[in-house]
Amino acid sequence: MANTILVGAQWGDEGKGKIIDVLTEQADVVVRTQGGNNAGHTVHVSGQKYVLHLVPSGILRPKRICVIGNGVVVDPVGLVKEIKDLRDLGIKSRGNLFLSETAHLVLPYHRELDDQRETLKGKQKIGTTKRGIGPAYGDKAARTGLRVLDLINPQRFRQQLEARIRDNNEVLKAFGAKPLSFHDVHKAYRAAGDYLKPFVANTVVLLHEALRRGDSILFEGAQGTFLDIDHGTYPFVTSSNTTAGGACTGSGIPPHRMDRVVGVMKAYTTRVGEGPLPTENKDIADMLHAMGREFGATTGRPRRCGWFDSVATRHACMVNGIDDLAVTNLDGLDALETIPVCVAYRDGRKRYDYVPNDVEILARCQPVYAEFPGWRAPTSAARKWKDLPPKARSYLKALAELTGAHLAIASVGPGREQTIFV
Ligand code: IMP
Ligand code: MG
Repeated sequence: MANTILVGAQWGDEGKGKIIDVLTEQADVVVRTQGGNNAGHTVHVSGQKYVLHLVPSGILRPKRICVIGNGVVVDPVGLVKEIKDLRDLGIKSRGNLFLSETAHLVLPYHRELDDQRETLKGKQKIGTTKRGIGPAYGDKAARTGLRVLDLINPQRFRQQLEARIRDNNEVLKAFGAKPLSFHDVHKAYRAAGDYLKPFVANTVVLLHEALRRGDSILFEGAQGTFLDIDHGTYPFVTSSNTTAGGACTGSGIPPHRMDRVVGVMKAYTTRVGEGPLPTENKDIADMLHAMGREFGATTGRPRRCGWFDSVATRHACMVNGIDDLAVTNLDGLDALETIPVCVAYRDGRKRYDYVPNDVEILARCQPVYAEFPGWRAPTSAARKWKDLPPKARSYLKALAELTGAHLAIASVGPGREQTIFV
């Protein structure tokens, strides 16, 4: 397999974890390049459910090298817990997992500030995961962040953490929040630092060595296109570049070494957190929630649901340069008689075939729908393209055509085997 960037083409939770797991079969190295433990990738293997937040999903296959790249923000205490939880399920990380020394750290004051800022915003809140992601990237940009290489240098870490806690406690006090104890944070983080030290590497050099060996690298995107800090529905976004370019900056692999971009999208649309979602619809939300589907992997929140939005996925295709599409959760639509698909937006007299940048305009936009006949048959047992009902095939073809990329994979359930290569 060539070097592949995998991105979410919607608002996150497209089922990337499962598709990555499937594609990892042909990859040697799997890399996370952005985001932090705000991500929640759910993968089912042989009846066991794994929820990954920071560790690349490639860890579930033996002998894959997994890398947490420089573009990721890492909560070291959370990462240690994740590695230990995986170990308890029989998954070995030591020797397979490498953590970039230049990845920035998420510290408790980031989480606290995330929480305080959200509370202060009241109704205008973003609906963050409260994992401290925004404040951590904020410190990175402000050049006041601490990195993994600081964490594993005890003397330097003590000095830097002391100063940062002093500053941040002033801010927390101004919010009326409780200041943090340097002692407690230092103790927990140093313990995590000692545990993680054998995982720490110069991952840029490691990845380029892999390239020279001829290894195939899979870049595991987190969140989705419309949560991108530049291309998403700002300010209702996450704080990293979730689009294809983030894979380069977040790993140190140059653009011309990338061979393919795979875009993952659901056969409908979901979003967690606030911000515009043009095709949001109560009927499909009620139906999916009643099926026990669409609850967040990180926060357990019920996801907002809507019909497939081809204006959004076409835009995602453009921004990411998507070559191949993976459509997931087709089976979620099995019961429907007719399935609306959004083909344009309308704001008064103006019609949009792209996603307007102004969120106030986007929030006003009404979807223009085309209707597709439902197949009204279970699809979760389908393994081949021809196993799918003809109407389901037409629906998938229409989604790919409207999006403007080649349909490569259709997924009809969480299992590895519930994957149809088109
Ligand atoms: P943050 O990334 O926690 O700052 O949250 C910012 C926005 O991104 C919120 O709307 C979150 O719900 C959303 N978000 C963050 N991570 C994910 C994810 O992995 N899947 C879906 N939405 C996410
Ligand atoms: Mg998720």
